[in-house]
Amino acid sequence: MNERTDSPTANAVLVDWVDRMQALCKPDRVVWCDGSQEEYDGLCQAMVEAGTFVRLNPDKRPGSYLARSHPSDVGRVEDRTFICSMNRDDAGPTNNWAPPAEMRATLNGLFDGCMVGRTMYVIPFSMGPIGSPISKIGVEITDSPYVVANMRIMTRMGQAVLDALGPEGTFIPCMHSVGAPLAPGQEDVPWPCENDISRKYIVHFPETYEIWSYGSGYGGNALLGKKCLALRIASVIARDEDWLAEHMLIMGLESPQGEKTYLGAAFPSACGKTNLAMLVPPAGFDDWKVTTVGDDIAWIKKGPEGELRAINPESGFFGVAPGTNEATNPSAMRTIESNSIFTNCALTDEGDIWWEGMTKEPPAHLIDWKGEDWTPDAGRPAAHPNARFTAPAGQCPTIDPAWEDPAGVPIAAFVFGGRMSKEMPLVFQAFNWSHGVYLAATMGSEATAAAIGQAAMRRDPMAMLPFCGYNMADYFTHWLNVGRRVVNPPRIFRVNWFRKDDDGKFMWPGFGQNMRVLKWMVDRVHGRGYAVESPIGWMPRFEDIEWAGLDFPAETFYRLMEVGRDAGTQEARAHEEQFDKFFDRLPKEFIFERELLRSRLWRSPDHWGLAHEDFRHPAG
Ligand code: GTP
Ligand code: SPV
Ligand code: MN
Repeated sequence: MNERTDSPTANAVLVDWVDRMQALCKPDRVVWCDGSQEEYDGLCQAMVEAGTFVRLNPDKRPGSYLARSHPSDVGRVEDRTFICSMNRDDAGPTNNWAPPAEMRATLNGLFDGCMVGRTMYVIPFSMGPIGSPISKIGVEITDSPYVVANMRIMTRMGQAVLDALGPEGTFIPCMHSVGAPLAPGQEDVPWPCENDISRKYIVHFPETYEIWSYGSGYGGNALLGKKCLALRIASVIARDEDWLAEHMLIMGLESPQGEKTYLGAAFPSACGKTNLAMLVPPAGFDDWKVTTVGDDIAWIKKGPEGELRAINPESGFFGVAPGTNEATNPSAMRTIESNSIFTNCALTDEGDIWWEGMTKEPPAHLIDWKGEDWTPDAGRPAAHPNARFTAPAGQCPTIDPAWEDPAGVPIAAFVFGGRMSKEMPLVFQAFNWSHGVYLAATMGSEATAAAIGQAAMRRDPMAMLPFCGYNMADYFTHWLNVGRRVVNPPRIFRVNWFRKDDDGKFMWPGFGQNMRVLKWMVDRVHGRGYAVESPIGWMPRFEDIEWAGLDFPAETFYRLMEVGRDAGTQEARAHEEQFDKFFDRLPKEFIFERELLRSRLWRSPDHWGLAHEDFRHPAG
């Protein structure tokens, strides 16, 4: 077959690229996606017939589907993710790199004939509102109908994007294949992919703004508008154009007096962005309103008054399912009531979905994420820990009225947080912009290594370690520069919801209760909140936090806030090791900040916290 199809665009560069990719991949047919409901429904129906989708009970979950991936294809593959800059140093010490020519040869080999027996879909999509000057247009070519369906939720997609692109417009080419061609007569499987991990590739060419992804159909590996375009490639564009592309949620906080404060918060993957973005204020905050602009990615640019403004380039949520319930995230539960795609969740006997933590008692019987019978005594989770929902952002009950405003929302504060079971206090504020950038750059987070039952910490600067498309030292410099060029730069905070006591229990209730910490930040931003100086930053006293509606002992609070001098000194030494990797590209400000940290710790008592007189008898 492999015949030429009529294209719905006069953009010659795009048509030529699609022709070349068709010749390379040799699909049976080419479909240009128009983004219509009919097209979506038809694709979903075809996936139901192929066994890729299970249609959920329309009485319980209208317009929704369950997909089960291949057990080898359940999340992003950081080891197989590459930044192929011309010069190795431009990718930096934290990214995988290969010479671009070599990588192109590898990819050409892999993509040659990779769509035989399949349909090649062309997906024009816009990150950001269609036609807005700050939006970026991408075109993803894929052989996965699952990707098409998810892209329709996660991005603005279809003919309207081609119309906005016009005959001369530029786009970012995003090439994707699951890497599973079908021989004549070969039967397809529900989730085709390349099972050999060493043959999966997520590749970025930062100089030519190109993305090539091979072998995986899951999440950020395959929905190329998200991590690949909106973070890795966009971070490069942002450096060149003087803005920021960040792994951040964006939320609004409206006080009972109607004062609205927006903040951006960066947490590593699966560390609570979606939860925080959709926070429901707890008892004691009845007249406060929290609104959601985005839960994963923020594009942040200078506004007309020199202030920083943020947009969410996505139009849906691709959220972690396990742990989501009426108590932890009621807004997410409303958002996913309909028109959603669930991946690697469990299926109930009533045709609805379930995952660990959704209800206190698990159902007596389920079909697990691998399609097998499951009962509560099975001794294994019913949903995969990285099971996800894909849901339209517009269905979120707390969605901010300005979430699609191309002008973005003004950002008053940046929050950075990892998962740290020890030593890292609940909250503190940077002394200034450069100190804040240092705090963000040295952020660590624990990934529980199930095998040894130990928490291993890795440095995840700005929660961007897997997502920065260039040398991270240059990224730090870029952050420092941004602060110099904006009027009244946002205040910077560090938080840690995950500190544990000696029994291994979380010391902080988290979730909705995080509102108490956010309110202190809002007060600080507006020059009202009180703070005392600790060796690592400004900290609230017990009485600086609003406790109405929660019985929380001051004693526990001060243990949550404690800074150990030895631990702090060890931490500063670890920063030095981290920075050594960046060698001569490290901004010199970071050396000063580290020395200042050391000398503040030097002067501090063994355990800075409850015993410290500033906390009990604040001066001024
Ligand atoms: P990505 O979508 O992977 O970028 O992650 P995310 O940051 O949006 O993660 P998400 O909000 O889905 O994080 C979910 C995990 O964080 C679950 O294990 C939650 O239980 C946990 N979590 C979220 N907020 C809190 C909190 O305040 N306290 C505690 N202890 N856990 C939390
Ligand atoms: C993350 O891992 O940070 C995600 C999920 O947001 S994915 O889109 O798969 O990268
Ligand atoms: Mn993410």
